[in-house]
Amino acid sequence: MADLNVKISNLQFKNPVMTASGTFGYGLEFADLVPLHEIGGIIVKGTTLHSREGNDSPRMVETASGMLNCVGLQNKGVDYFCKHIYPQIRDIDTNIIVNVSGDSAETYAECARRINELDAVPAIELNISCPNVKEGGMAFGVSCAGAAGIVKAVRAVYQKTLIVKLSPNVTDIVSIARACEEEGADAVSLINTLMGMAIDIEKREPLLSIRTGGLSGPAIKPVALRMVYDVAHAVKIPVVGLGGISSTEDAIEFMMCGATAIEIGTANFIDPTITKKVKDGISSWLDAHGCRSIQEIIGVV
Ligand SMILES: Cc1cc2nc3c(=O)[nH]c(=O)nc-3n(C[C@H](O)[C@H](O)[C@H](O)COP(=O)(O)O)c2cc1C
Repeated sequence: MADLNVKISNLQFKNPVMTASGTFGYGLEFADLVPLHEIGGIIVKGTTLHSREGNDSPRMVETASGMLNCVGLQNKGVDYFCKHIYPQIRDIDTNIIVNVSGDSAETYAECARRINELDAVPAIELNISCPNVKEGGMAFGVSCAGAAGIVKAVRAVYQKTLIVKLSPNVTDIVSIARACEEEGADAVSLINTLMGMAIDIEKREPLLSIRTGGLSGPAIKPVALRMVYDVAHAVKIPVVGLGGISSTEDAIEFMMCGATAIEIGTANFIDPTITKKVKDGISSWLDAHGCRSIQEIIGVV
């Protein structure tokens, strides 16, 4: 069987398939449905220094080939995570990665510093791209200076693997990826959701409580693929690709465009076993095509 191992900085992944933050809870919620140890990495729900209520309902709308959400980083804060959730997930035999968000360089850094203390969390994914919060979030990820400032502050206090998650709601994602690389990011992941809207025509008003939301699912795949290709050809650090992946073939497309690993988000809502299916599917595809290692397809396009 082909070797599925991939590496991001010095962190080893048993396969390149991870779950996207906000679509797989803390992993435990899926434990009865999919063998968690077979997933390459579990990226848990966005965590912030202080607890957040999130936005009012309605905060999800189904769209053609996708969905809009404006959950707004609802979570109980980093201390609750460390005390109550971490003990329940620390022994899952995969890379547990915490997705970190904030509203200033200080709150990002303080949240990262507390997670740095957790032995069984070898990496964080820095979310500088959430479109659904008023302060912070995407505001940092849409300019080189904003992105660089957050990465610099976090890099100063976080010694393990640092993945920075980029926003597609920009004109030049390559320059933002380069700014993150220059400040010491170990990898970039892309893409977060694309800003969108949906209207209730009877009420003549937006369907989502805060008017706009982030579009995810198969509808965004071609946009994500183009951005992964562009960024992977411009930076030296590994790229993690996501956006609309819902099949083995989708995952292979991203890897051929230069992604070292991939994340699956919205597709978990349709098929909670999709991560295992894609992992097994990549393995079978490599075998059927005479490849001995996943490395043989990364960046071949
Ligand atoms: C309901 C929902 C909640 C999300 N929450 C987060 C989050 O907390 N942090 C984050 O970085 N991304 C979050 N995302 C974005 C996803 O991780 C992913 O970047 C996006 O959905 C694109 O991938 P997909 O098309 O495979 O879903 C969320 C997405 C959805 C649909």
